[in-house]
Amino acid sequence: MNPPAQAHINLAAFPHNYQVIQQLAPEQKIMPVLKANAYGHGSVQVARALPAADAFCVAFMAEALPLRDAGITQPITILLGPQNAEELALALELQLDLVIHRLDQVVLLENQVGERPVVVWLKLNTGMNRLGFPVTSFAEIYQRLKGVTCVSEIRLFSHLACADETDNDYTLEQSNLLDQSTADSTATVSLANSAGIMAWPHTHRNWVRPGIMLYGASPFSDWRERDFGLKPAMTLKTSIISLQDVKPGDRTGYGGTWVAEKTGQIAIAAIGYGDGYPRCLPSGTPVLVNGERAPMVGRVSMDMISIDVSHVPAVQIDDEVILWGEQLPVEEIAELANTIPYELFCSVNVRVHRIYSST
Ligand SMILES: Cc1ncc(COP(=O)(O)O)c(C=O)c1O
Repeated sequence: MNPPAQAHINLAAFPHNYQVIQQLAPEQKIMPVLKANAYGHGSVQVARALPAADAFCVAFMAEALPLRDAGITQPITILLGPQNAEELALALELQLDLVIHRLDQVVLLENQVGERPVVVWLKLNTGMNRLGFPVTSFAEIYQRLKGVTCVSEIRLFSHLACADETDNDYTLEQSNLLDQSTADSTATVSLANSAGIMAWPHTHRNWVRPGIMLYGASPFSDWRERDFGLKPAMTLKTSIISLQDVKPGDRTGYGGTWVAEKTGQIAIAAIGYGDGYPRCLPSGTPVLVNGERAPMVGRVSMDMISIDVSHVPAVQIDDEVILWGEQLPVEEIAELANTIPYELFCSVNVRVHRIYSST
């Protein structure tokens, strides 16, 4: 008795997209980003689909636990680092690597007793101004971390703010700042996200951290010119649960915002903002009904949308509706919702069943 809305996840997309990343960054190690339940795709399933991945990263400790519980043995980096002594102790026990971006996290490490070693990624703020030490304090923090017995290796980490804007020099500035402030260091460095991997080769350094491209979507707004051969992993689907004949002047949905201009047929599909299909999507947003493009019309409700299927032949109850996926780019829907594919993926609600296959 499954709900009609389903996110079909093609597990074959992950090794495929990983290979694309390897081709773009052949000298680098790759640390796929599995935070937010692998951008809504299921972190354990994605990790299992990538047995050859060099490592993974997640935002919080709580996101690493299901991966270790599921037997994922690769290194896992906690991007926000430990928040207290308990988390640090657990991280050491589970052999998790830690981003260290605040002084109190250095103190936590200094106060840690015991023999368990930990790899730390010293995060420098090169211009994102969210997390990280000022680059001017690099030498001092590095020296302090060197004095911590449990720290087995110190690596360097920073994050790009504007790499998805290919004509924005800010990426160069961040990259140069990192070089200048760590010029004397031979430590391993990680800087590039998907946009860095795809558009800024000099940001690749030693480890790359792909997120969105692993899921088969582009970080760029002008994505159509940037076909890197990525395979979309998620197809969001539902089915038709009602058909309504309409004549000129008839309306559909809350507020009656869409008015039929001619005689036709409206199909009601079982998906809405309660599933993560954004309410802000405008009338005219494309969906695929039995593989044919048709416009969603009127307002998105919590559980339903209306689709003008007047031109689609012989539509029936239970017919398939695709909201985004391989045949309907998520980037196109994100643009209409005035957002980015990241948000659409992460918003797919828990009531939407994830169905895994490999094709
Ligand atoms: C620190 C860090 N690195 C890498 C990524 C991956 O970014 P993207 O999904 O754009 O590849 C993220 C995601 O936001 C991140 O926070």
